[in-house]
Amino acid sequence: MVKSLRLTVINDNVGTEGLKNDWGWSVLLESEKWRILFDADTEPEVIEHNDRVMGLNLKNLDYGFLSHYHGDHYGGFQYIGKITQNLRVFTPPSSYKILEKWNLDVVEVEKPMKLMDDVWSTGPMGFVREQALGIKVDSLGLIVIVGCSHPGVDSLAYKLKILSGEDVYLTIGGFHSPSKRRLDNLAKISKYITPAHCSGEEAKNYVKSKYREKFIEVRTGSKITLP
Ligand SMILES: [Fe+2]
Repeated sequence: MVKSLRLTVINDNVGTEGLKNDWGWSVLLESEKWRILFDADTEPEVIEHNDRVMGLNLKNLDYGFLSHYHGDHYGGFQYIGKITQNLRVFTPPSSYKILEKWNLDVVEVEKPMKLMDDVWSTGPMGFVREQALGIKVDSLGLIVIVGCSHPGVDSLAYKLKILSGEDVYLTIGGFHSPSKRRLDNLAKISKYITPAHCSGEEAKNYVKSKYREKFIEVRTGSKITLP
């Protein structure tokens, strides 16, 4: 059972003074049981700087999770490989073995599955073979974290809802300039919505105006503590 979860945005496309930022996405997920790094941005220097300035102690991780093999999500794993010892990283299947070269212990997720208690992966979806992560927080429901949503943010969230049997509480991450139809679908199943990274201003403004009560904004350095 996961009783509490804290999400710290290490890098988002939108910056904050005092922290470095670039085009990319990286979130630290901390429960009372584990610390998981979801994606690792583009530049090792950005993650290193923000790790130090925010005092995140990223050398002390239990797992990594890579949504998909695009540079704005895996680049900073080079830094993580340097400061950790054979960290286990859940990735989509790929012939691109860059994370292994960086001293990480890659576990390929080949299908939808439970990774550990109250934690699920969609498994690789769509042409880009992207996976999303779902975490059940006791008393709230499912927290859905996405990378760039190439298979569609509504499809990823729905897959995790079915897989876990839990209602979606929050969906956060890059939504990849989604159509209004996708955002409307997502709004039907997700209590709160946090478009970040590659979601685009149009999608942010659409959620902010049409679903004001659901909208939560983040940027580099933001923290969300649940419950
Ligand atoms: Fe991306």
